Amino acid sequence: MDIEDILSKLTLDEKIDLLSGVDFWHTKAILRLGIPSLRMSDGPNGVRGSRLFNGVPAACTPCGTGLAATWDEELIQEIGQLMGKEAIAKGASLLLGPTVNIQRSPLGGRGFESFSEDPVLAGKMAAAAVRGIQSTGVVSVIKHFVGNDQEEQRQSADSIIPPRALREVYLLPYQIAEKEAKPRGYMTAYNKVNGTHVSENSGILQNVLRDEWGFDGVVISDWYGTYSVAESINAGLDIEMPGPSRWRAGLAKLSVNSRKVTHHTLNQRVRNILKTIDHVAPLKLSENSTEGTVNTPEIAQKLLRVASSGIVLLKNERNILPLDNGKTTAIIGPNAKFAAYSGGGSATLRPYYVVTPFEGVKAHIDSLEYALGATAYKKLPMLTSITNAPNGSPGMEMRIYAEPHSVKDRTPVERFNIDNSSCFLSDYKHPDISSNLFYVEVEGTITPETDAEYLFSLTVNGTARLYVDGEEVVDNETTQRPGDSFFGSGTAEEVGRKHLAGGRKYTVLVQFGTAPTSKIAKGGATQMGVGGLQIGGCIKTDPASLLEEAVAVAKRVDQVILSVGLNSEWESEGWDRAHMDLPPGSDALVEAIAAVNPNVVVVSQSGTPVTMPWADKVPAIVQAWYGGNETGNAIADVLFGSANPSGKLPLSWPIRLEDNPAFINTKPDGGKVLYGEGIYVGYKWYERTKRDTLFAFGHGLSYTQFKLENLVIADSQERDNQSDSSDVEILVDVTNTGLRDGSEVVQVYVAHQTATVQRPPKELKAFAKVHLPKGEMKSVKITLDKKYACSFWDESANAWVMEQGTYHVLVGNSSQNISLQRQFEVAQTKWWTGL
Ligand code: BGC
Repeated sequence: MDIEDILSKLTLDEKIDLLSGVDFWHTKAILRLGIPSLRMSDGPNGVRGSRLFNGVPAACTPCGTGLAATWDEELIQEIGQLMGKEAIAKGASLLLGPTVNIQRSPLGGRGFESFSEDPVLAGKMAAAAVRGIQSTGVVSVIKHFVGNDQEEQRQSADSIIPPRALREVYLLPYQIAEKEAKPRGYMTAYNKVNGTHVSENSGILQNVLRDEWGFDGVVISDWYGTYSVAESINAGLDIEMPGPSRWRAGLAKLSVNSRKVTHHTLNQRVRNILKTIDHVAPLKLSENSTEGTVNTPEIAQKLLRVASSGIVLLKNERNILPLDNGKTTAIIGPNAKFAAYSGGGSATLRPYYVVTPFEGVKAHIDSLEYALGATAYKKLPMLTSITNAPNGSPGMEMRIYAEPHSVKDRTPVERFNIDNSSCFLSDYKHPDISSNLFYVEVEGTITPETDAEYLFSLTVNGTARLYVDGEEVVDNETTQRPGDSFFGSGTAEEVGRKHLAGGRKYTVLVQFGTAPTSKIAKGGATQMGVGGLQIGGCIKTDPASLLEEAVAVAKRVDQVILSVGLNSEWESEGWDRAHMDLPPGSDALVEAIAAVNPNVVVVSQSGTPVTMPWADKVPAIVQAWYGGNETGNAIADVLFGSANPSGKLPLSWPIRLEDNPAFINTKPDGGKVLYGEGIYVGYKWYERTKRDTLFAFGHGLSYTQFKLENLVIADSQERDNQSDSSDVEILVDVTNTGLRDGSEVVQVYVAHQTATVQRPPKELKAFAKVHLPKGEMKSVKITLDKKYACSFWDESANAWVMEQGTYHVLVGNSSQNISLQRQFEVAQTKWWTGL
């Protein structure tokens, strides 16, 4: 593409057309000049394709924290490559990920999507993912740049971040990714940083990203995260997403004609978009590319490997793990027969398949007992899991109508079956549906095995009613209560009940109208698309008898796997968690089972920490994150020893919520989120305040043992008398002294206690994952970039400074288990900017 030539031929209207999306996922093609459209797709733990609702199935990787828990850059690069290939299969040339925000608090709704509380681990993981994605020719759009570290009021919240913390904690992961992998796209965060929305913040987009770091790719707004015309264009926001444009289509021309935006600036934005289009042209994808799948056994193997590599063995007293499959065993708990494969929100996708922990464990053992013990749903489970569509296949039938339910003999514009009754319709498209106002019917049948009381529910962004055999059971129309559904734009759940007789077939019909039919639909910034509908339903259970049955099962077996945790209903985009606890009933279940069986292994799934008041009452705890398609197999492989756990915590695990550094400043207060803990995020805070954690940053056990010894530091200055800006080479011998092959993570922290400002007790600066057969030793070489290892952000100079002095290198296999220590010198203080 001759970009300058095309630029000279584009009319003003055409240039403006390029500056925003045409629909939820595409930019506009200008066929006259051979400019194709770009398709974008989420990210970050797979590639969903261009349909949020009823999409084409895709591979699902572990969530961000689960990926970072591998501490394995090579593996994450491979996963990035897998995602790049999936993006191509889905016709998308821009992949919206990875997510590189920071878990200041355990409660952040999207904490699960982000890698780590530590900027170096997050930055290295981001760089690895970007390298992998971009090796396929797909553009990685790293997000959400920057300071979107909680969900509440995310479009209006002003993140007040002290300059040092902004640089050393929040921008640093992006800076590392920029230095090591050069992502070609950035997505701006919804929020303000220090007073100005990022999407119109020239200090961040122009001064830092483009001028200091030399970024020359494309900057895209988060969805509905553009809040101005001239300001955002001038600050460096290239594309407003999604389309149709709310801002630019109507007003960008006026901005240019009134010289609020100069032609030079407009051309700059268009040039960045054309460069991106040109870059992805070899992929030969278009707006109309069909969406396919790449569901192969090799991919399944890779997903299994990454899921098991990130599982963290938190505790293993009496070496109770790995389990002996010759013993009588039960699996109990709400997550046993539920595959918690992903957190909620835009990270969700329709997986190729999922494996539950029950299914995974069953493959290792002949006789396995099961009990639910407690439920863990927040809203009722999907009704589709107990219904059949009118044609007999599992699920329900959905019919879309342009006319309201009162119109007799109307014909649906489309009918199809769904296997998941959570339907976020914001990107639904049909040629006969021309506005946001349309109507939907969903129908299925239930044939209960025995008499039982059933619960049914409706949660909507719109209005809906549910009928069983013609009788109205739920009304979410006449009175509606605001709730947090559909990224915060929908209602609370309304529940109804009905006694159903065993053996009889009942028809369930739901009639739904999209968002404009609702009197309480929220307009403005939070409104996402046209609306959504979630239909729940299940047999009503009695918590006391569930617990009783589980205790009875636990009493009669040798060992119990207790499968608890959160799921996409408890951790999701759109809102933050209200507390750090497991769902109601789970703690009581663990206590009750631990009281009757001494051999209990708790497997907990969540993207961020949960309180574990029972931690000292059970001999073993495994943290298994949301593990993607293979989540159940990965858990089972670790439990039975086919995989030796090697994950390490990418975040600190507080004992109590109140202990975390952001506790008093988690939420916006008067519109502002004060990052009052400054640079003391995560372990830096716990170490500085001498506060215990339940499990420390970097912690994770193995079924074998490793010895780290013979730490040698070869400072290039000593070696060949070069300048301070060179590398420090670290050599350490790692021996697998145990009886199994395994992997260890060598963690390198640096401490500088004589600085002219306060610095954390120690900071992670490098790491390496080493795979070692039993009995073998490897000399591991890790290179520290001295500039990055030593510098802090000097607010008075507006630059990084590497101060002269003695730096301690602390090497261990967790932030709390440092076994080796040496030091090196920086001879002369130096300031620097850039990468
Ligand atoms: C999320 C982004 C996502 C976009 C498109 C937004 O709600 O914040 O991460 O890429 O939607 O789904």
